[in-house]
Amino acid sequence: MSEIAVIASNASNRTGYRSFELGSFKFSRDEYFVYIEWPSANGSMTHYMSADIFLRAMMRDVAWQFFYNQINFDAVFGTNNLYGTVEMFAGSYNEAYKDAGIDLKESFETPIILATFKEILDDWTNDGFDPFAAPEETGTAWLGKKNGHNRDAINRERQVCKRMVGLPGDTVLRTDENGYPVNRAFEDVSQDQPEVHVEPGYESEIGATNLFAYLARSDVTWNPSITSVCKTSLYCMTTEEYILPVKHGNDRVEWFVQLSDEIKWEVEDFETGRPRAKVIMKAGDVASMPEDIRHQGFSQKRSMLLVWENTNPGIVEMHRSGKLKSYPVDF
Ligand code: PHB
Ligand code: FE
Repeated sequence: MSEIAVIASNASNRTGYRSFELGSFKFSRDEYFVYIEWPSANGSMTHYMSADIFLRAMMRDVAWQFFYNQINFDAVFGTNNLYGTVEMFAGSYNEAYKDAGIDLKESFETPIILATFKEILDDWTNDGFDPFAAPEETGTAWLGKKNGHNRDAINRERQVCKRMVGLPGDTVLRTDENGYPVNRAFEDVSQDQPEVHVEPGYESEIGATNLFAYLARSDVTWNPSITSVCKTSLYCMTTEEYILPVKHGNDRVEWFVQLSDEIKWEVEDFETGRPRAKVIMKAGDVASMPEDIRHQGFSQKRSMLLVWENTNPGIVEMHRSGKLKSYPVDF
């Protein structure tokens, strides 16, 4: 555990953005770039990336509270969720950085790193930039010097339905009226609702809904929502456009069901980042992502994806002990 884990906000720099420190890591931004500095065995290192890439990745890391295990912002920087503590790293899963001895990984209590990341996201997101939106549907991350905030977008919370979507009392039925217009990419998706003939007396308990119509009104991209739970099995629906802003490194198998259009996945080795596979998924395709890889999706046209997750807390140990293989099926 790192001894110093403080949100240190220095005076803003020339461009008006605040700088931050957490443990041995330092963060700053200017008009176009984000800079991450850390001490290494071979001297002080500075890594930089485009501010939009950083903010889109940071938005997911914060909103998903570090997700399942690993979030890579790019080939160098990221976080490992150890479910209670979080490791922040630079170069630790990059073969060349490891070989050169210029990597660093430090561990933090989850609330501390979460609070720091929220502050960074809040200060560095300018007015008009929505890190959850597709690039065509938001203003830019670059407005020169620090220029306002977009707190509505970055503090957006998933709406929680009170009942299964479509049943009376459901609070998140998506309609034009409650501000969820059909996305421009899904104008051809039928908005018809299924006909349900219910035995008298069960009208409030049995329902059906048009999931495609529902997803067609999603206003964010690359942000899976839990839509059904069966024990530890979660169905998470999401609409995807442009690039998944993170490379997700798993500690368990997950499954993808491509519901519409197409996503191309790049799959890399978990430890080194070496390329391992390219997977092209077209509507109707089903694929599993193994436990020992990281993956990133590319969706040219907004598409619908079902991510099937296993939240069993014992599953990490089952993989680690060899009880489960890193992949789910032997053909
Ligand atoms: C994933 O890491 O598996 C993932 C994350 C976000 C998405 C889709 C897939 O929207
Ligand atoms: Fe994943």
